[in-house]
Amino acid sequence: RGAEIVGPEIGYLAEGTSGIGRLAPPELIVEAILRALRRRSDLAGQMVIISAGPTREAIDPVRYISNRSSGKMGYALAEAARDRGARVILISGPVALAQPAGIRILRATTAQEMLDRIQDALEPNATLIMAAAVADYAPADPAAHKLKRSGAGTTLSLAPTPDILRSLRRPTGLRVVAFAAETRDLLTHAGDKLLAKGAEMLVANDVSEEGAGFEGDSNHVWLLKPDQPPIELPRAAKRVIADQVLDELFSPASARTEIDGDTGV
Ligand code: PMT
Repeated sequence: RGAEIVGPEIGYLAEGTSGIGRLAPPELIVEAILRALRRRSDLAGQMVIISAGPTREAIDPVRYISNRSSGKMGYALAEAARDRGARVILISGPVALAQPAGIRILRATTAQEMLDRIQDALEPNATLIMAAAVADYAPADPAAHKLKRSGAGTTLSLAPTPDILRSLRRPTGLRVVAFAAETRDLLTHAGDKLLAKGAEMLVANDVSEEGAGFEGDSNHVWLLKPDQPPIELPRAAKRVIADQVLDELFSPASARTEIDGDTGV
């Protein structure tokens, strides 16, 4: 019937014994209620493909180049799209998040693997949201065996990875949303990326700002569309931002009225 069961939890009970039967923590109960209230079906019939998390580019069998992406923003988007009735494929880099129910997950480690997984998942009229933090460079010649420490310094030679958004063969009707992670001149750099990446919308975040960007549970973003003034989404839980991004993408008028609402932070 679509009911979601919360708790009971295991722990010390009022009867003086330990076992299953404790009330779930109030914040878990509130979270479940909010999730149920948010459930809509306005994206029924939509196919949404979302990339999340970092990529890893091997230096040798034990070391790699990566970045601070936790995957939380991309997973929040995937869960929001699922809860609104979309079919969702999540292309996930290596992250420590639990696999969300009701979402098909394809794993990728490197930028090249992520490109291949996304290419295979694309279909006409789908929507691709690129929240992943894909490495721009990879070691040109990864070592087959663990590199030994030597007294002297060492130099790594890097080669560009494929730019996924610019390399994809796009089926007809594909809608593309890019992200931009910047640390200065956010709107200028993001505006350039919106054009360079061929996206209809870009979600820009300043990852040097407290409460925004990598790892945390909240974000503060700007939505850019060609020839339109940027829309600011004030700091809010990533899950709230995710719903606002989907609102702006699939029903722009309703997004405007909800942006001043509950921030979940
Ligand atoms: O994962 P979290 O910890 O929750 O953090 C969220 C986030 C900061 C990772 C997310 O909000 C975000 O900004 N994601 C994009 C990060 C990024 O790589 O931005 P960029 O400005 O370097 O890339 C621009 C766009 O091109 C992005 O959509 C990116 O996915 C895409 N790209 C980048 C490199 C590459 N080789 N191919 C690409 O397609």
